[in-house]
Amino acid sequence: MDSIIVRGGGPLSGRVPIAGAKNACLALMPATLLTDEPLTLTNVPRLSDIATMTRLLQSLGAEVSELQEGRVLVLSGLGADNPRADYEIVRRMRASNLVLGPLLARHGRAEVSLPGGCAIGARPMDIHVAGLQALGAEIELRDGYLHARAPKGLRGAQLTLRFASVGATENILMAAVLARGTTVISNAAREPEIVDLARCLRSMGARIEGEGSGTITIDGVERLHGATHPVVSDRIELGTYMLAPAIAGGAVEFPGGRVDLLRAFCEKLDEAGVSISETGAGLRVARGDGPVRAVDVRTGVYPGFPTDLQAQMMALLCTARGTSVLEETVFENRFMHAPELMRMGADIEVRGGTATVRGVSRLKGAPVMATDLRASVSLILAALAAEGETRVSRVYHLDRGYEQVVRKFRAIGADIERVPG
Ligand code: UD1
Repeated sequence: MDSIIVRGGGPLSGRVPIAGAKNACLALMPATLLTDEPLTLTNVPRLSDIATMTRLLQSLGAEVSELQEGRVLVLSGLGADNPRADYEIVRRMRASNLVLGPLLARHGRAEVSLPGGCAIGARPMDIHVAGLQALGAEIELRDGYLHARAPKGLRGAQLTLRFASVGATENILMAAVLARGTTVISNAAREPEIVDLARCLRSMGARIEGEGSGTITIDGVERLHGATHPVVSDRIELGTYMLAPAIAGGAVEFPGGRVDLLRAFCEKLDEAGVSISETGAGLRVARGDGPVRAVDVRTGVYPGFPTDLQAQMMALLCTARGTSVLEETVFENRFMHAPELMRMGADIEVRGGTATVRGVSRLKGAPVMATDLRASVSLILAALAAEGETRVSRVYHLDRGYEQVVRKFRAIGADIERVPG
């Protein structure tokens, strides 16, 4: 198992290219199950989660070919006649559950393993199940699998989600595009990844309106066709790298970076005293001398502050002037990075879903352990400005969601390397 070694250093400078969004791509890939014709995705990030989804789709009988070193995927759902998403794959990645809606819509049948325990909370599937049942599916839980059937086909319905779940909105959307009649999803998730999925489905012939708002209306169609779709850029990867100069000082440019996908996050950086400017080509993020200011952060569904940037933001606030309060409202148990940051000298107190961070003048390098994807990268960020050397172990989590992480940090002047063991 590899580790990453970071030696804290001075200001950063340079440019970081941002990849296609992992979370968008993981929802777009299963859309291939909705048609016999090829679906081509471009701007695909090269990540182990994408490889896991590829394996899952192949296990269902779909074909997936990589072009341009994995930047382009050509998918075909033509031969996908196995409705069973096996525990062996699903347990590795919760997003595997995104095959449920498409399998049900197309084949009237799906058996999808429950994802099982997850490091960042219980993450049940009840909202997915309730939504699909509203469309007429019969679903029961047996042997750890959701067994879903729609013997008479799915039919449009009006439904309101108990919570604006991203995955449930995606599953219901993909099921509804082939259902008979009109579906209205109220309290739908509004994340940019949902907008991207709706755009792709529309270019496959689906009739969808309202994506990006809390109400999505879908008029079911008889069949979908093939399409080519570029994956939207990864706002979480962007936000993560924007924190690098905010923490270590300096100025970094992000070609193609968009503030509009990260507004709540950018507002908090601004409040902390980090400068963000839109250049003709993208974004430039800079921090002057001296520490940033403490800010309070409350995560929420889009357009709120993304839970997927909470750990990284905490890394910044560890050395801010003053006391910050971070409230996590989307997941329970998503502060596993706090004890690791404390090993580096941070002053953090966690009580339930709230973390109080009292800024210290400097963190110190230490051996720390990555516990999940975003927690791992928060430790690297903290280490960029810490005194001495930090060794982050269990970095396989990073490979799930950050492409060429060492190379990208090095390109902006960070002293970072990946070593075996
Ligand atoms: C997606 C993202 C993940 C992000 C999360 C919230 C992907 C592949 N992953 O995950 O990176 O952190 O959105 O922005 O896109 N819940 C239920 N019942 C359900 C479904 C969800 O109670 O049926 C709860 C979850 O336990 C969690 C909350 O709702 O507390 C948010 O989950 P959800 O929006 O579904 O997240 P994911 O789609 O799993």
